[in-house]
Amino acid sequence: MNRDTLPRHVAIIMDGNGRWAKQHKIQVALGHRKGVEALRAIIRESSDLGIEALSLYAFSTENWRRSPQEVEALMGLLLEYFTSEIDELDEKNVRIRILGDKDGMPDRQRRALINAEERTEKNTGLKLNIAINYGGRAELARAARMLAEKAVRGDIRPEDIDEEALAGELYTRGLPDVDLLIRTSGEMRLSNFLLFQCAYAEFLFPTVLWPDFGVEDYHAALDAFAGRNRRFGGRSE
Ligand code: IPE
Ligand code: IPE
Ligand code: MG
Repeated sequence: MNRDTLPRHVAIIMDGNGRWAKQHKIQVALGHRKGVEALRAIIRESSDLGIEALSLYAFSTENWRRSPQEVEALMGLLLEYFTSEIDELDEKNVRIRILGDKDGMPDRQRRALINAEERTEKNTGLKLNIAINYGGRAELARAARMLAEKAVRGDIRPEDIDEEALAGELYTRGLPDVDLLIRTSGEMRLSNFLLFQCAYAEFLFPTVLWPDFGVEDYHAALDAFAGRNRRFGGRSE
């Protein structure tokens, strides 16, 4: 693998836990648990490779539509993850940021998320963004609202509102745009993930289900990215 052509910002839609559970004839909650293991390995590898930013889609604003049992299992896993991993992530100098509406989360989960962000605030390694209770449209609406509030207060003029100003109100403010978006399980859609930030991202849709996505699959994705010809609307050669 060529380390000179690594993307700065990788985004992953970790999809396929349900189908994986079905394949193995086990409960969906166990599929999600297995998915967390895959996530650990990919975070570690991203940090070791020196990737600048990794954004993971863990729970969408639409995922509340699932059965109460599944939502509860996911909330439980989330709490468990943030409680058990925080020391190691902090030690690895990982900076955690939550993308999404923390206020809409149950109390204990919200506190764990805030604690993870605060504890790792000063870290300078991998910028790990975890999207929880996240929706791209909600994020854009929120950004518009914040700009409108600033304008009403007289802090900015409407004519000052440009792409940069909007980007500055997103959960991802300060981060580079997404270079590479990976969605596992073969589904080819964004499902409301990072709509603004993926404007010029390269997309990859490996068919492997998320719990089976390993470091080798990750390397293959990074190699495929390195072979892409990015033009950003201009002309290369
Ligand atoms: C993705 O796996 C994880 C979450 C949405 C939390 P799914 O649960 O969507 O897996 P499939 O799509 O049913 O296989
Ligand atoms: C997107 O996957 C959300 C996460 C992976 C967290 P979904 O499985 O919820 O998306 P759809 O419903 O197939 O579009
Ligand atoms: Mg899915």
